[in-house]
Amino acid sequence: MNFPERIEIIEVGPRDGLQNEPEPVSTSNKKELIKKLADAGFSRIETTAFVSPKWVPQMADADEISDYCNRLGIKYIALTPNLKALDRAIAAKVRQIAVFIGASTIFNQKNINKTTEESLAECEAIFLRAKEHGLFIRAYISMAFTCPYQGEVTFEEVNHVCQRFVELGADEIVIGDTNGHANPQMVYERFSRLRELYPDTVFVGHFHNTWNMALANTIAAIQCGVEKFDSSIGGLGGCPYTPGATGNLATEELLLMTSEMGIETSISFEKIKQIVPFAKSLSTRSM
Ligand code: HMG
Ligand code: MG
Repeated sequence: MNFPERIEIIEVGPRDGLQNEPEPVSTSNKKELIKKLADAGFSRIETTAFVSPKWVPQMADADEISDYCNRLGIKYIALTPNLKALDRAIAAKVRQIAVFIGASTIFNQKNINKTTEESLAECEAIFLRAKEHGLFIRAYISMAFTCPYQGEVTFEEVNHVCQRFVELGADEIVIGDTNGHANPQMVYERFSRLRELYPDTVFVGHFHNTWNMALANTIAAIQCGVEKFDSSIGGLGGCPYTPGATGNLATEELLLMTSEMGIETSISFEKIKQIVPFAKSLSTRSM
């Protein structure tokens, strides 16, 4: 097997980890979590989402969180699924945005109230305006393996979205196992084909751990040359519109593996271990 000398780990706990919490998490606790994570050495943290507070109440403090991140001087990513979200993010001086479209249209209707085609059309306008402002654009393809509403998701459905993201000029494309039902074989096949079709594109692995295969899926993606992975402290997470799925790949598990294997990251495993209890204390679902 081939292993890179280093990988980038993008911490998504403050956003993906907390967005689905049924009880409100205070803004001051979110800030404390972000500060601790920044001190542990992450190059980038996904901190919030400019989504509708009616849809995802937990992300209602996106403005205040972004202002805090700007004052800390860290590199962070905020989700912007529509033009209104992008306008809010630009006003909040966000520099890295993320759009997200599912490979399955039923998921998109439930998650962002649009079909895949409608979402792609809005993305075109989002990319244009974001590029005018010089923003870094992360583009998620969610439900890239299976979907709780539709079942199997074909490679063609994934590639349909991927091709548009490449044409629009995404800075990185995140392949999301939102449902957490992918296995290493599927991951290897899908990433190999994508890397073959788009050799100049930067791909990121984003694995949820519903079936406890997120770590194995990471190894499979590494074998295809992928060197960037999302993870969430304490394994927190879940999407409100993905019934049955659990948290993300836990940052501490990924770091234990990379440090034992001599794969470099910029992150202190010792510091991460100390943050895990605090992160878990913010979640009523991890108790
Ligand atoms: P909508 O209701 O279709 O929007 O929501 P609309 O354009 O029809 O507007 C309706 C109302 O919402 C209006 O207000 C708008 O102003 C307001 P009203 O006139 O009724 O007072 N509105 C907004 N307010 C604040 N911020 C906005 C915004 N947009 C409209 N940005 C929308 C469309 C996308 C906003 C909605 O569907 C939404 O917020 N969805 C949330 C989706 C979400 O956050 N899902 C979880 C993240 S995705 C995920 O977890 C997967 C991922 O981790 C990757 C993986 O695991 O694969 C990324
Ligand atoms: Mg996710």
